[in-house]
Amino acid sequence: MRLDKYLCESTELSRANAKKCLHRGEVTCNGIVVKNSAFKVPDNCEVRFLGELVKARGLRYIMLNKPADTLCSNVDEVYPSVLSLLDIPKAYSLHIAGRLDADTTGLVLITDDGQWSHRLTSPVKVCGKRYRVQLAAPLPEDKIAELIERFASGIALKGEKALTRPALLEVLAPTEVLLTIIEGKYHQAKRMFAAIGNQVVSLHREQVGVIALDPSLRPGEWRYLTQDEIDSV
Ligand code: URA
Repeated sequence: MRLDKYLCESTELSRANAKKCLHRGEVTCNGIVVKNSAFKVPDNCEVRFLGELVKARGLRYIMLNKPADTLCSNVDEVYPSVLSLLDIPKAYSLHIAGRLDADTTGLVLITDDGQWSHRLTSPVKVCGKRYRVQLAAPLPEDKIAELIERFASGIALKGEKALTRPALLEVLAPTEVLLTIIEGKYHQAKRMFAAIGNQVVSLHREQVGVIALDPSLRPGEWRYLTQDEIDSV
């Protein structure tokens, strides 16, 4: 890894400031001042910034239980960003893999590994996202089989020509269902239920691929993913 990148990944410095510190001679590698930003840091090299030993963080993979009234955005707007809940360095430079609406709660995956995030969200990869949905109107008992079939064969969303890709609808109670979708169109779950004349009252994402929201995380809490969870993508 280049020395300027290493400094960014081990301190709060931006790339530009890391370069300035390097040019000022504030960084040593194995005791020798290195001013070249492009210097490749060898394995097991002892890097010090202003005399303090620093270690590159490496890539970060996080699951967060998103509370309502937060945004999946890298800036705070009408509501704070979910990144404001991460008390870690450079949280706002992380990438939110797959966005939820402000009022949607549940599993959000956050990383600085662009390729991993792409594998999760790319439309060509099939990655199921499971939501627990509370509905305004009870689903009629005698129409449930028909509805399951409609969701499986594709729903026509308002303003879109193509049908939605196959979705799995599991009815838990007349106003509570699990919906698994493999794409992420704008307001998709809400629009799918609007298309069948119903309305979503609350939406909670429980799972993305095989990564399930950790039940020990209360709204607003987060944890790093396990190696198995990372490798599952
Ligand atoms: N579908 C929606 O309508 N909203 C979300 O936040 C996620 C899926």
